[in-house]
Amino acid sequence: MGRVAAGVAFRMPSVVTATAYGGPEVLTVTDQAAAGPLGPGEARVAVRAAGVNPIDWKAYSGQFGTNPAALPMRLGAEAAGTVTEVGPGTAGPAGPLRPGDDVIAYRASGAYAAELVLPGSALVPKPAALDWAQAACLMVTGVTAWHVLAATGVRSGDTVLLHGGSGGVGTIAVQLAVARGATVLATASPARHDFLRGLGAIPVAYGPGLAGRVRAAAPGGVTAAADLIGTDEAIDVSLELVADRARIATIAGFGRGFAEKIKVLGGAPGADPGTQIRDAARLELTRLAADGAVRVSVAAAYPLTAVADAHRASMTGHAGGKLALIV
Ligand SMILES: NC(=O)c1ccc[n+]([C@@H]2O[C@H](COP(=O)([O-])OP(=O)(O)OC[C@H]3O[C@@H](n4cnc5c(N)ncnc54)[C@H](OP(=O)(O)O)[C@@H]3O)[C@@H](O)[C@H]2O)c1
Repeated sequence: MGRVAAGVAFRMPSVVTATAYGGPEVLTVTDQAAAGPLGPGEARVAVRAAGVNPIDWKAYSGQFGTNPAALPMRLGAEAAGTVTEVGPGTAGPAGPLRPGDDVIAYRASGAYAAELVLPGSALVPKPAALDWAQAACLMVTGVTAWHVLAATGVRSGDTVLLHGGSGGVGTIAVQLAVARGATVLATASPARHDFLRGLGAIPVAYGPGLAGRVRAAAPGGVTAAADLIGTDEAIDVSLELVADRARIATIAGFGRGFAEKIKVLGGAPGADPGTQIRDAARLELTRLAADGAVRVSVAAAYPLTAVADAHRASMTGHAGGKLALIV
């Protein structure tokens, strides 16, 4: 949609909302009212891509309850784009921001949109080594993986078991743990094993018999484990193989995690949000990505108008990497 006002042509930016609770059929892409003038410390960002994460479709699925007052619901938490305008004194963690800067936006509530107005504190420089889709997909999984390794104290000499090692969070966690000098066992479906070997991990198929396969692959034992998927199997096998519960974490099995007194990480009530650790990780992740030390594996990119298809792919649990929306 375009229109001309005061001699200036501009594009009415698009935005994705969930108009009801349900499946991807409740998603709509509509025109977004242009945001007003910027306040101090704010920046306007023309979005090029947004990252898709399971929390995005969980939010409108109803599994966290249904609140009609929250509708229509904006979606998304991470994006990449270019700063088009800044308010007075706008700076990010890496310094002052200027129009023309290519940035990664996180935390960017409602990131599935063509235009975002955000505090500068949410914007870090986009590494040139990443394309728009990769840049948009780095942060949610990256800071979560960073938090997981910090919470479980993964360091050189450890043997760490990562359940869901082929997922968005797992793929970054594998790379960070390998870079720290740990031996990494990562669970995945067999089709993803070569990919994980390429990242430096020892792949192990999940499913019945998992503990035995891990013991065979790591005869010296496992010193830390993280459930990055939320299955009982992941938590049971972690408890069976890791002696110290302070070195077991979950980011998705909240009920079991609290009951078993392991580390429960994330935004759920009672969980450790790790806000400072995660915020500080952003610049570290951009540095590692710029150096090629962390790679972002994007399985597929969809136009913003195909957001429902992207969510259907994410909901399978086997997307094969991150999914991006191209604006
Ligand atoms: N707490 C937090 O802060 C936080 C942050 C980010 C994400 N999360 C949550 O963490 C979970 C993973 O997120 P993600 O972005 O990594 O998801 P994802 O990219 O969809 O990855 C899913 C992973 O689960 C594996 N998997 C699928 N079915 C499985 C099964 N039955 N048993 C074992 N593994 C299985 C997949 O392996 P294959 O594809 O190889 O089969 C893949 O490795 C989601 O629940 C998400 O909401 C939490």
